[in-house]
Amino acid sequence: MAQAKYILALDQGTTSSRALLVDTEGKICSVAQKEFGQIFPRSGWVEHDPNEIWSSQASVAAEAMARLNLDGGQIAAVGITNQRETAIVWDRKTGEPIHNAIVWQDRRTSAFCDELRAAGHAEMIQQKTGLVIDAYFSATKVRWILDNVPGARQRAQAGELAFGTVDSWLIWKLTNGRVHATDISNASRTLLFNIHDQKWDDELCKLFDVPRSMLPEVKSCSEVIGATATTFPAANVPIAGIAGDQQAAMFGQMCTEEGMIKNTYGTGCFIVMNTGEKAKRSKNNLLTTVAWKLDGKVTYALEGSIFIAGAVVQWLRDGLGCITRSEQVEALANSVEDNGGVYMVPAFAGLGAPYWDQYARGAIFGITRGTTDAHIARACLESIAFQTKDVLDAMADDAGIPIAELRVDGGASVNDRLMEFQAGLTGVKVVRPQTLETTAMGAAFFAGLAVGYWKDLAEIRKIWKKGAEFESHMAPQTRAELLKNWHKAVDRVRDWDK
Ligand code: G3P
Repeated sequence: MAQAKYILALDQGTTSSRALLVDTEGKICSVAQKEFGQIFPRSGWVEHDPNEIWSSQASVAAEAMARLNLDGGQIAAVGITNQRETAIVWDRKTGEPIHNAIVWQDRRTSAFCDELRAAGHAEMIQQKTGLVIDAYFSATKVRWILDNVPGARQRAQAGELAFGTVDSWLIWKLTNGRVHATDISNASRTLLFNIHDQKWDDELCKLFDVPRSMLPEVKSCSEVIGATATTFPAANVPIAGIAGDQQAAMFGQMCTEEGMIKNTYGTGCFIVMNTGEKAKRSKNNLLTTVAWKLDGKVTYALEGSIFIAGAVVQWLRDGLGCITRSEQVEALANSVEDNGGVYMVPAFAGLGAPYWDQYARGAIFGITRGTTDAHIARACLESIAFQTKDVLDAMADDAGIPIAELRVDGGASVNDRLMEFQAGLTGVKVVRPQTLETTAMGAAFFAGLAVGYWKDLAEIRKIWKKGAEFESHMAPQTRAELLKNWHKAVDRVRDWDK
């Protein structure tokens, strides 16, 4: 009997590297995960060690395979999905990074972003890239590395350095430096890529001072781009799927029809709507981005990126110390009937969509003598739903259609009360799938489609299964009152650190 084959999905996230093995039925047969170091050299700066990204990713892949006692011959293909925007620059000859990765959350280039805005570049940039000018995206991070690592700019100009987002870095390592590539969904987050022409853009490269020779080749999300040349997962396994993690989650949620939306409740919240073959321009500060390219066709999306969501729970645990384990937050928040008039705006790293205020900072409002840690925990959880509501309103307005359903995944989506509150606040049906590993599933689906592991989308659609559904039971006056107070709180934190 032929041995079973699996797809190996590598999910390189902001705080951990994960590896999952998926079978033809879409069952996750093995998972391994490893957290890695977060480096905070200064306030507002966030870095990762690229070599640790690689070693943690390689070790979890080996671990996931060892659990099933697999060898490389049983891996049909590798799919990669990753934290997006994070920028890595390395030496093409030695393969050594010349600086730590500058992470998407890093704000060190905010002042340069202000300068670009003041110089009137926002319109051209939005038109070409679909993005707003913000330190979040890769281009200003690459520029910073070239300007601050001695000799880097000259080496870049001489063609000695390569830039990549985390997917490119992993591909480079997996292929032993033979392939320098990225996919279109990751490229569309750099501020250097024209999402309409689907090409790196010379004008943008010039504006951000990033030599074109540093950039990876842009591939679709589902095609064989090379073969592994390392001992893990074994030599000659096709690398066949790549997508940024939010786009992969959208595919894993099977939001494949125009108008479908998913929200991933992770460290941040990333709400993405499929807009079909058209790149829709947002009037409400959402991002226009590439969802994926499949079978030669590009699907576009509107995205609302919220920087702090599940991270409020970590803050309650590590910053305030009012819980010792993240899971305790639900019981603490539910120990009070309501938020007791307390509102928390978690603008720890500024505010993302739809506000894009890099100078906003977090605050808690409405504290009285009767306020307890339970009210604060509740306000923290509610802030996740409030921020999502703001983005959904912007999306409905941009799309010109009311939103019928929100597919959810990510850590905080297991919290039933929060999902009920989300449905109540938005009036939108919230649907949670049985498998919450949508990001890894998306990467596996892209890779599997490319090598014929799955025949077509119709076959994959059967794998996605609804788990739970939450409808709105909130009274309109309650909703209006909550939203009024939330927006009052948001107004007060704007421009705080300017
Ligand atoms: O845009 C940043 C996003 O891709 C990070 O996702 O899940 O690693 O926090 P995550």
